[in-house]
Amino acid sequence: MEINQDGKKSSLILLKQGAEARVFESTFMGRRSIIKERFSKKYRHPSLDTKLTHKRLNTEARCMTKARRLGVSTPVLYALDTVLHTLTFEYVEGRVVKEIFLDFGLNGLNQELMNDITTQIGDAIGKLHDGGLIHGDLTTSNMLFRNGTNELILIDFGLSFTSTLPEDKAVDLYVLERALLSMHSSCGNVMDQILAAYRKTSKQWSSTFNKLGQVRQRGRKRTMVG
Ligand SMILES: Nc1ncnc2c1ncn2[C@@H]1O[C@H](COP(=O)(O)OP(=O)(O)OP(=O)(O)O)[C@@H](O)[C@H]1O
Ligand SMILES: [Mg+2]
Repeated sequence: MEINQDGKKSSLILLKQGAEARVFESTFMGRRSIIKERFSKKYRHPSLDTKLTHKRLNTEARCMTKARRLGVSTPVLYALDTVLHTLTFEYVEGRVVKEIFLDFGLNGLNQELMNDITTQIGDAIGKLHDGGLIHGDLTTSNMLFRNGTNELILIDFGLSFTSTLPEDKAVDLYVLERALLSMHSSCGNVMDQILAAYRKTSKQWSSTFNKLGQVRQRGRKRTMVG
């Protein structure tokens, strides 16, 4: 596909077609970039739909920027287009953490790399939470590992929100725990390593961990019933 951007034609390569967003690779001012387009859901009422699409677009831009202010690496935001419902940001050269963990599960190599990544994940979430930001969709697909600098980058802030409640922080961690269990059970105790790093970073870890215990129990009950 071809579009006009910055007066030039640049190609768009579709990387991911999701239920509510399409993710393209493109160039912005000569730089490799990602364009994330939020589109409408046909079954929703049109004006409600436009509102929701706008809200998620703005949320993502705002929360990405807030995370960065809290010392958590995110892609640099290049542009926000409220007419086309697109966000344009820096293309991070690296690998998705999901792929690295799946590789590790198969080949079991490089424990040092695993430790580095899990420490950075725990530290990043601790910083977000102490700053009152909940990511809302913590999975290994929403984490990138930058080539060269080996820096962890968090992405996909469309479901993020601000909160200082231990309950919200605990649920954020629980979502990650469940995702790790289902996707990366062969990686060993990655969640324990992540929580150890979180505990070092977060000054409020103790109230969050208390809640996490309760959230886990609730989850267990639900599994037994459902
Ligand atoms: N800045 C980036 N650099 C490199 N790759 C990226 C970048 N942003 C996204 N990607 C790739 O695109 C995939 C999808 O991006 P993202 O998670 O933002 O969208 P999504 O999951 O479809 O969004 P949502 O869950 O909000 O509907 C990522 O898993 C990653 O592989
Ligand atoms: Mg995602």
